[in-house]
Amino acid sequence: MAEKILLTGGAGYIGSHTYVALVEAGYEVTILDNFQNANRSVIARLEQLTGKPVPLAEADVRDATTLASLFADHQFDAVVHFAALKAVAESVERPLDYFDVNIGGLITLLRVMEAAGCRTIVFSSSATVYGVPDETPTPETAEFRAMNPYGQTKVSGEQILNQLVAADARWAVGILRYFNPAGAHDSALIGEDPRDTPNNLMPFIAKVAAGEHPELQVFGDDYDTPDGTGVRDYIHVEDLARGHVLSLSSLLGKRQTHLVNLGTGEGHSVLQMVAAYKRASNRDVPYSVTARRAGDVPVYVAQAEKAEEILGFRTVRSLDEMCASSWKWIAGPHSKEDPGSEGDA
Ligand code: NAD
Ligand code: WQD
Repeated sequence: MAEKILLTGGAGYIGSHTYVALVEAGYEVTILDNFQNANRSVIARLEQLTGKPVPLAEADVRDATTLASLFADHQFDAVVHFAALKAVAESVERPLDYFDVNIGGLITLLRVMEAAGCRTIVFSSSATVYGVPDETPTPETAEFRAMNPYGQTKVSGEQILNQLVAADARWAVGILRYFNPAGAHDSALIGEDPRDTPNNLMPFIAKVAAGEHPELQVFGDDYDTPDGTGVRDYIHVEDLARGHVLSLSSLLGKRQTHLVNLGTGEGHSVLQMVAAYKRASNRDVPYSVTARRAGDVPVYVAQAEKAEEILGFRTVRSLDEMCASSWKWIAGPHSKEDPGSEGDA
């Protein structure tokens, strides 16, 4: 029988791509999402992509009663937990909201899981836990140096999970530290959909290429990098989604807790991203160089070998494929759907 998975935040950017990958891998997946930062129309498009109805609970991950009744109804074998708030600047302004959803939500979920006897979870962590690392490419052994409340919630989430495993060896936990997710599904049916001004580089470049913003501001060109602009390890969201399938199947099979970076091991600068996006979209991407953004890290690149050793995970999609799929999504009809929902990241 197919294993049953609860996917929190499954209507969001990474969650929706992971939903498709999990269903394609044969799992029976239920999405829980409160649509705080997602379009309801994503669900119909996931049905179109997978050819079957999407089991959906519209609920808050902090709602223990609803969670408990979902576990009673479905007897989930595992949880893949994406539901969280993720805007760094907002977390500085509203730290309590971030602690509440990201830490409080995790604790509520873990309590319900424990009561239901479900002790397998994949957790979305982030390269942001490294702050400004001493070493790049950065290994998983680098110390925690979160620089903002959002990053602190990911550090706390990891610590809570590690202490849970230490207290009860029946738990099997996969902690995945994503570097910079980018791109969209090949079908152009799902992708990243920031409604307001995007915070992240790739969606901002996409809006400039589409003519929705006049120009990109490049935040600093005086870093100690080859062209002076910030360097990141961009990972195709479909590769990232596959990483979750591998983590989950390893947990359900071997029941061994793991912590891995998910990145490509390669860095690209802001100006390299601009050039790649221009190639993929055949549009101009005007930019001007402005001051450094407060709290920015010069270089984030993953040491990516551990994920390969433990999970057999290797990225297969290039930066050009990230840009091409992003452009197909942005230029297509679906990225503008459902403008009435209140998502904002
Ligand atoms: P997203 O905002 O697109 O997805 C999060 C989903 O969770 C959304 O659908 C949102 O509606 C839902 N959600 C938020 N609060 C909720 C709540 N209280 N109850 C139920 N659902 C709730 O973000 P994403 O980029 O897909 O990120 C997914 C996860 O990956 C998050 O945990 C994020 O912190 C982590 N992450 C993201 C990045 C990135 O750059 N996108 C990098 C590293 C880690
Ligand atoms: C990438 C590069 C910017 C926008 C953030 C969060 C992190 C993680 C991913 C979740 C940097 C430059 C950007 C722009 C620019 N999220 N840039 N002009 O900073 O690596 O990480 O998102 O866990 O927690 O901090 O990603 O896409 O914002 O920036 O020049 O308009 O692009 O300075 O060098 P970042 P990003």
